[in-house]
Amino acid sequence: MTTPTKEKESIPALKIIDLTVNYDRTPVLWDINLSIPKGKIVGIIGPNGAGKSTLIKTAMGLVTPLSGRCEFFGQPLAKSRKQLAYVPQKESVDWDFPIIVKDLVMMGRYGSLGLFRWPKKADKEIVNHYLDLVGLSALSERQISQLSGGQQQRAFIARALVQQADIYFLDEPFAGVDMATESAIMSILRRLKDMGKTVFVVHHDLNTVENYFDWVIMLNMRLIAHGSVAAVFNQDTLHRTYGKIALFDEALKLAQNKITGM
Ligand SMILES: Nc1ncnc2c1ncn2[C@@H]1O[C@H](COP(=O)(O)OP(=O)(O)OP(=O)(O)O)[C@@H](O)[C@H]1O
Ligand SMILES: [Mg+2]
Repeated sequence: MTTPTKEKESIPALKIIDLTVNYDRTPVLWDINLSIPKGKIVGIIGPNGAGKSTLIKTAMGLVTPLSGRCEFFGQPLAKSRKQLAYVPQKESVDWDFPIIVKDLVMMGRYGSLGLFRWPKKADKEIVNHYLDLVGLSALSERQISQLSGGQQQRAFIARALVQQADIYFLDEPFAGVDMATESAIMSILRRLKDMGKTVFVVHHDLNTVENYFDWVIMLNMRLIAHGSVAAVFNQDTLHRTYGKIALFDEALKLAQNKITGM
């Protein structure tokens, strides 16, 4: 029996159920429950050590939870892997690994290539298309160790894009990139959203949250809040997520507004 389209639309892109994660018996995420609808750009925010990367890694199956589970469109991870793309946090990547840019990006096609199948012309075209989109065509033959930080980030984003997945997890894609690259990446993410994709972005700049995201997950080992930015992103939830740092940020914002006369 097939699920009627309307019903399918209302199935959450990501559902996390009773999720608790430990590292070496130390709890990092406690009893997380949340549902995220399809077609949103979702910010994951919280202080250093809040468990943001751990949440993404657990969703991707890279970390095994103590209890609980994640579902994608109502299906377990085992049935959803091909629908998921991941851009890891920059610090966790071995940038000395000897691989050239276009081969790194082609790695994103392996899921759909399957074992023992060489990339076809169509795969190469997809790789070239996304290299062009992230502005790396001219550097496609270069070793990743010889790219600038922002170019490395874009290479990993291209690797995720060629997967043509339904759900994207990006762990701090804007860390160490210039403003032009940040807005270029943001417009790529908005294009994905327009195609009905769901995009999760770990993010640290609270000033851009309202502009960049539809939904937000506010995390500090426990889930503080999740929902539309308009409904849940406010001083109260910021205080509960960051403590006094939020106050500092707000003071900074006010000072900036005063200086610019806004
Ligand atoms: N492999 C690991 N083994 C043991 N502890 C870990 C491991 N990875 C992360 N941790 C710890 O788990 C907690 C959450 O880490 P995580 O990387 O998820 O935080 P984060 O919110 O992504 O932080 P940041 O903003 O600094 O990237 C931290 O206290 C961290 O030290
Ligand atoms: Mg992290």
